[in-house]
Amino acid sequence: MASKEHGGGAPRDDGSDDNCGCGSWTIALLLFTSFWLVMLYLPPMDSLPGIREIDGSPPWVDDKPTTCSVELADVRGLEPALAPGATSPAFDLVVHVDNGHARELRHGGGDVVVSYAGVPLARGRTPSLRLGAKCTGRWQVNVTGSGLGIPADLSRLMTAERRWGVAQLEIDMGLAWQSFTCDVFVDGQPGASACRLE
Ligand SMILES: *[C@@H]1O[C@H](CO)[C@@H](O)[C@H](O)[C@H]1NC(C)=O
Repeated sequence: MASKEHGGGAPRDDGSDDNCGCGSWTIALLLFTSFWLVMLYLPPMDSLPGIREIDGSPPWVDDKPTTCSVELADVRGLEPALAPGATSPAFDLVVHVDNGHARELRHGGGDVVVSYAGVPLARGRTPSLRLGAKCTGRWQVNVTGSGLGIPADLSRLMTAERRWGVAQLEIDMGLAWQSFTCDVFVDGQPGASACRLE
């Protein structure tokens, strides 16, 4: 107990103070206890925001791939380049994504290219997305081309195809580390067109 009373100035030369050993055991015990307390009271992964389960099924079952589909909300600028008032081709898309995975999906966005008859007309980006396990979401993706209208030959083909109601745009997009292709009718169709993996 002498070491405690004038421990302030006296240099410790024997190194055999048992208070010291006792203190480190207390600290070790405290660290150990707090570690387990933290592990015990951490929220489970599923309850974190943005992560959700459906039907309460455990997250390790029912893992399905990510799928997506595209709706064409509006289209402009498909007249021939030389037509009066021609504008840049513009496509307003709604991209639906279904995260089939039993884990959260996060992706920084990818390229979107809209083509007709193999000719790229507009290019843009999908927004970065964050989708909980087994959740679906939809994003507006509006892409605009750079030129005015579309080439005359392409316009003639499109006019003919639209008359028959068969004109389709091809939409290629990078999403969730995969490349998808979707065919969308220019003159609309009910609902969204499913995309396939490229
Ligand atoms: C995208 O297109 C939709 C549908 O035409 C429109 O409502 C929306 O305002 C557009 N968004 C932007 C950022 O231009």
